Amino acid sequence: MSEEKKKFYITTPIYYPSDKLHIGHTYCTVATDAIARYMRLKGYDVMFLTGTDEHGQKIEEKAKAAGVTPQEFVDNIVEGEKGVKDLWKLMNISNDRFIRTTDDYHVAAIQKIFKKMYENGDIYKGTYKGKYCTPCESFWTESQLVDGKCPDCGREVVDAEEEAYFFRLSKYADKIRDLLVNTDFLEPRSRVHEMVNNFIDPGLEDLCVSRTSFKWGVPVDFDPGHVVYVWVDALFNYMTALGYMNDKYSDKDKYWPADVHVVGKEIVRFHSIIWPAMLMSVGEQLPKKVFGHGWLLLDGGKMSKSKGNVVDPYMLAERYGVDALRFFLLRTFPFGSDGNFSNELLIQTINTDLANDLGNIVSRTTAMVEKYFGGTLPEGCGATKDEIELSQACADGKIPFVSAEGNEKYDAELISMASCLRDKVDEAMMQYAPHKALDEIFKVIQRANKYIDENAPWTLAKDMDANGTRLAHVLYNLIEVCRIAAVLLKPFIPGSSDKIFSQIGAPEDVQNWDSVKVWGGMQAGVSVRKGENLFPRIDIKKELEELEKIQEEQRKAALPAVELEPYAEEPVDFETFCKSDLRAVKIKDCVPVKKSEKLLRFTLDDGSGKDRQILSGIRKYYEPEDLIGKTAVAIINLPPRKMMGFESCGMLISAVHTEHGEEKLHLILVDDSIPAGAKLC
Ligand code: MSP
Repeated sequence: MSEEKKKFYITTPIYYPSDKLHIGHTYCTVATDAIARYMRLKGYDVMFLTGTDEHGQKIEEKAKAAGVTPQEFVDNIVEGEKGVKDLWKLMNISNDRFIRTTDDYHVAAIQKIFKKMYENGDIYKGTYKGKYCTPCESFWTESQLVDGKCPDCGREVVDAEEEAYFFRLSKYADKIRDLLVNTDFLEPRSRVHEMVNNFIDPGLEDLCVSRTSFKWGVPVDFDPGHVVYVWVDALFNYMTALGYMNDKYSDKDKYWPADVHVVGKEIVRFHSIIWPAMLMSVGEQLPKKVFGHGWLLLDGGKMSKSKGNVVDPYMLAERYGVDALRFFLLRTFPFGSDGNFSNELLIQTINTDLANDLGNIVSRTTAMVEKYFGGTLPEGCGATKDEIELSQACADGKIPFVSAEGNEKYDAELISMASCLRDKVDEAMMQYAPHKALDEIFKVIQRANKYIDENAPWTLAKDMDANGTRLAHVLYNLIEVCRIAAVLLKPFIPGSSDKIFSQIGAPEDVQNWDSVKVWGGMQAGVSVRKGENLFPRIDIKKELEELEKIQEEQRKAALPAVELEPYAEEPVDFETFCKSDLRAVKIKDCVPVKKSEKLLRFTLDDGSGKDRQILSGIRKYYEPEDLIGKTAVAIINLPPRKMMGFESCGMLISAVHTEHGEEKLHLILVDDSIPAGAKLC
């Protein structure tokens, strides 16, 4: 590498602080962090940016509902306890900068950028008519809707018509098409087809880039009443955070264009079509790449707070450790595709890879160095000249892999694998495939565990005079594998790598990228410090039960305390209403219906002199004997209905509401002085 370090500018999307972030957001940020850390390890001068995207109608509405100002609302979610910043700190995210789109310098810069595009004729005034999805802050044309609903989130869209500014997106259609089809700008490649087929080829329409129906946004300074469309405001964060159109920072020349914007698949459209078009409009260079990763799904669907199906990263990190959670996210799911989160997968991954493989090799190795050599390996047990030559040849790609049997040859196999590892990891990481990089590292760790069994140190130790030298060399080889693995694992599980270095006694100068090119970086005569168990094994059955309980409670707590049935919009005329014959009824008997979890069978005195039988689905809420003798209300002129083999002649009136997602029914009981058969009117 030349004197001047190579630059690498990487970004995550800036997150909406409309709710607390969940494991899906964490996945995106942890993966970007691993790439940023990896590039630093390789010696690059990295700028890693993340932040929050704080404007828009959704935030304005949420703040109103919470009875606070939008600024107070976002401040709480971004800076408050267990907010966005706290979460990134907890997850050991190494961002160099954090931008909030409500930061003054950003707001002022957006105003200048908007004006610039207006003045160069790319923004003009018109009337917006179309469909708008409030939660997604997205405008859609009729043809883009799916079953009349938002194609991203599936929710209702509303008609919108207002005076607005438009960006001439259509003008850039050919250039954007060329960029997507003929360059590597957008990856994975499958996303290119999606963009071209769904958005560009059907015809790119100009984009509505201002709103007047709400206030919480960057004001268009030359036309009060308009606020800048939140995506224009948001996308330019990648440049304002470097000092574009502001004096707060001054690294634009140093870091722009970005090397990669890492984004989730649903916002690829904004990053690969709208963003380059706007950059072309203001005459700036395009980012080198947009990488669209997949979603972390729960039960096959996208996690969403409003659906109550989010997984809380705080709880998982507190239970298993930050590195275990980071590792799980990066190891399990191919970054470009969707993946299904499950508790079982999480615990299995921790047990298999971290406890059984990685934790095991470190603890067995250090324990054996302590047991057989009092904690310090003898001088002279390190890599031999032949081994270093073999390793060099492997690292240079001259010998791909040595596979053979026999004691010394097991060494050669292990050494050749470890020596090819850095290149393999690099190849994977340069494709933004952290899962593949981890796969390669774990192949070597697994090989090393096998090497212990093949060499049976405990047998060698029985005759130290004859086998002591060999035993020391075997243990040195294991320590060296642990070191190489820890260096390459550092971007993924930084805290644990440091613990491994400390346990195997690896000095700082062999914890870097250059030191893992060739075998033998570790000095012989090394002293280990056996430490805590890195990743304790988890009792999967017990833990799953526990987790389910916690998550069920969290799910319930996240849902509104009380939800009411929607109010009827259609009026009912008085005559129709009066046709319902509501009567006070005395409960003579009440028994559960066999084989039904819901139904109670009531025998009622309705004042007619003849018993009336009604079935009601309130078994969950009452003990039958508690209801006998009480006075309830029934509608008695409904046509009889068969339920579980019994005829139900009418319906008992109950009140219904939902509490933390659970339906609750209350039988309406009235004063017992009301005689059976009294009509309610
Ligand atoms: N504010 C915009 C981004 C503007 S960038 C100029 C936004 N914010 S977001 O908070 O809704 O999402 C941020 C990122 O989190 C997106 O890349 C999104 O794909 C990602 N994820 C949100 N839920 C996710 C999963 N369940 N799985 C994986 N990533 C997910 O979009």
